[in-house]
Amino acid sequence: MTAAVKRAAVTGHPVAHSRSPLIHGYWLKKFGIEGEYGCLDVAPDAAGRFFRNFSDSGLIGANITVPHKEIAAAACDRLDEAAKVMGAANTIWLDEDGELCGANTDWTGFLGNLDQRAPGWDDAPGTAVVLGAGGAARAIVFALLSRKFTAVHIVNRTLEKAARIADEFGSKTIGHSWDNLGTLLEEACLLVNTTSLGMTGKPPLEIDLSPLPKSALVTDAVYVPLRTDLLKQAEERGNPTVDGLGMLLHQAVPGFERWFGVRPEVDDELRALIVRDLGG
Ligand code: ATR
Repeated sequence: MTAAVKRAAVTGHPVAHSRSPLIHGYWLKKFGIEGEYGCLDVAPDAAGRFFRNFSDSGLIGANITVPHKEIAAAACDRLDEAAKVMGAANTIWLDEDGELCGANTDWTGFLGNLDQRAPGWDDAPGTAVVLGAGGAARAIVFALLSRKFTAVHIVNRTLEKAARIADEFGSKTIGHSWDNLGTLLEEACLLVNTTSLGMTGKPPLEIDLSPLPKSALVTDAVYVPLRTDLLKQAEERGNPTVDGLGMLLHQAVPGFERWFGVRPEVDDELRALIVRDLGG
C-alpha cells in the first residue's frame, strides 16, 4: 500500500493571485517530494466552518492569507506564542491527535529576509519607525521587539490603531500620527513601510526622507512592485534597502518543513522564479 499524497494549500479570499503555490511547488520539486500544494478560495461566510472542520478538507495543513488569519486562529485548538499575541495564524496543521494547530510565521519571515539580505542590520541598538498599524505592522513590531531596538515607533493615519498596538506590546512601542514622522526619522536606524501605499493600484507613499540618517536601513512590506518608490527614493539618497519579497519567501519555510518534513532554504533560484512571475 502506498502512503497518501500529502496535500496542503493556501486559503484566502481572493487567493488566485497568491505566489505560495509557486514557492511550495518549487521546493516540492527541488526535494523530489510527492506532495501537492494548491490554492483554495474560501468565501468569508464559509471560513469559520471551513477551519473548524479542517480535518474534512483532505489537507494536512494550510497557509492562510487575507482576510482569514484571525478566523483561522480562533478555530485552532493550539496556537504558538506569536499567533496568540497577534490573534492571527498564517500557518496551520493537524497534529497526530487531529487537533488543529496554528502559528504565525510572518514575523520570522520579516527577520529572515533582513538577516539574509542585510546581515548585521540590527547589530547596533537604535530606534525603528514602522509606517502603518494593520496586520503586517503587528507582525513586524513583534519581530522588532525580539531584537535589540531601544524603541519601536508606529506611525499611522488613524492614531488610535497605532496607540492600540503600542499599548498591547509594551513600553518600548509608541504610537504616533503622521505629523511626528520628521522628528522620528532623525533618530531612526530602520524604516519599514507596512501600509498598502505604493502598491500597484494604490495611492503613492509620499514621504520626505531628508531627516533620515543615510545609514538607516529602509524596507517595504509591499513587493508589487518589487522596487517601490520608497525603496528607489531611499537608494537614490544612499540608504541601504531591502525589498519585501523575501518576507513572503521566508514566512513559507516553517509550513513547508512542518507538512513535508524538510526545512527548505530561500535560494536565489526561488527568488528569481517569483521575480519573473511578478514581471520583474
Ligand atoms: P494589513 O493587514 O495587510 O497590514 P490593513 O489592516 O488594511 O492591511 O492595514 C493597512 C494600513 O495601511 C493601515 O495602517 C492603514 O491606515 P489606517 O489604519 O489609518 O487605515 C494604512 N493605509 C491604507 N491606506 C492609506 C492611506 N491612503 N493613507 C495612509 N495610510 C493608509
